[in-house]
Amino acid sequence: MKDLVRKHVLNIKPYIAGKPIEETKRQLGLTKVIKLASNENPFGTSPKAVSAMKKALSAVNRYPDPQGYYLKKRLARHFKLEPENFVLGNGSDELIDLLIKTLVEPDENIITSEGTFLEYEIVASSHDRKVKKAALRYFKYDLETMLKLVDKKTKLIFISNPNNPTGTYLTKYEVAQFLNAVPQRVLVVLDEAYDTFIDVDDFPDSVSYLKRRKNVVILKTFSKAYGLAGLRLGYLIADAELVHFMERVRQPFNVNILAQAGGLAAMEDNKFLKKTRRLTIQGKNFIYKELSSMGLGFLPSETNFVLIDVARDGMDVFRAMLKFGVIVRDMNAYGLKNFIRVSIGTQKENERFVRVLRKVLKEKS
Ligand SMILES: Cc1ncc(COP(=O)(O)O)c(C=O)c1O
Repeated sequence: MKDLVRKHVLNIKPYIAGKPIEETKRQLGLTKVIKLASNENPFGTSPKAVSAMKKALSAVNRYPDPQGYYLKKRLARHFKLEPENFVLGNGSDELIDLLIKTLVEPDENIITSEGTFLEYEIVASSHDRKVKKAALRYFKYDLETMLKLVDKKTKLIFISNPNNPTGTYLTKYEVAQFLNAVPQRVLVVLDEAYDTFIDVDDFPDSVSYLKRRKNVVILKTFSKAYGLAGLRLGYLIADAELVHFMERVRQPFNVNILAQAGGLAAMEDNKFLKKTRRLTIQGKNFIYKELSSMGLGFLPSETNFVLIDVARDGMDVFRAMLKFGVIVRDMNAYGLKNFIRVSIGTQKENERFVRVLRKVLKEKS
């Protein structure tokens, strides 16, 4: 069979997702397992979205609206743009794929960073496209080095802002300076999956850049603060001409009926969004305090997760915590060997995480 597979596919590194709760229960014979590994919303889903999806269930014998008319219209109103500026995706993961498919020729390359969201590189390699990466600098994207990597064949630059898995962010000054220096023919993708959790004043208003220059693309998702990860819904904001061509490449029914209904209703539920934000920031402060009292290093985060320096093999810590029914993320695949990443949970989950981490580190010291 291997002989039949396209050569570049043999070299694709598989994406290792956060370990699912059910799988952990099954494999370890546990009954109580918590997952703090995929930066999901631990506070559930907007009740308005749930009720809209229940209603939409009776229509699933039909195909979804291939244009996502109402959701695009609602998004356009939210951002003061036109529906023609939006592409909807089966999660923003699909939109990363669609961007590369639409834009990057076989001899062209993509630039991103080390220690960032792994999908940029995985999707690029699934299309046999070359990826150039700059190392992180003080756990942040090194824009200066990334700029030096730009050559005549560079088509796309992927930036996760704030960055997964470090939780660090680029300021509006840094992003503006970078955009001014990047050639207009290179598209800069600002992936803002965690924008709802930002609690600083100098985060970039990326949509305002898009209004001034055509080479900016923004990615957003309903998977995090909106609590709809299992539904798979993300969107891309870009110049209308680029959207037009991406729409040609997109599968016609990529966003299902429940996702369109749920996303639309979730956008009307500010109460849920605000509660998620408030409890996440509270939970993060609790975890910071506990980590400090354990003497552990961590990075202040503008997201719903924290990267922790456990000062020993992170994989060992991940495995040991798993035995106590707490799923975190080891950072081996990100080149951060002595780290784990924990998503902020409910207060009860955060307390259990801290208890188990203390126990595990004591056993391992
Ligand atoms: C930076 C970043 N971008 C995109 C995604 C993918 O989101 P979606 O669930 O919309 O595919 C994630 C998910 O973890 C992420 O961390």
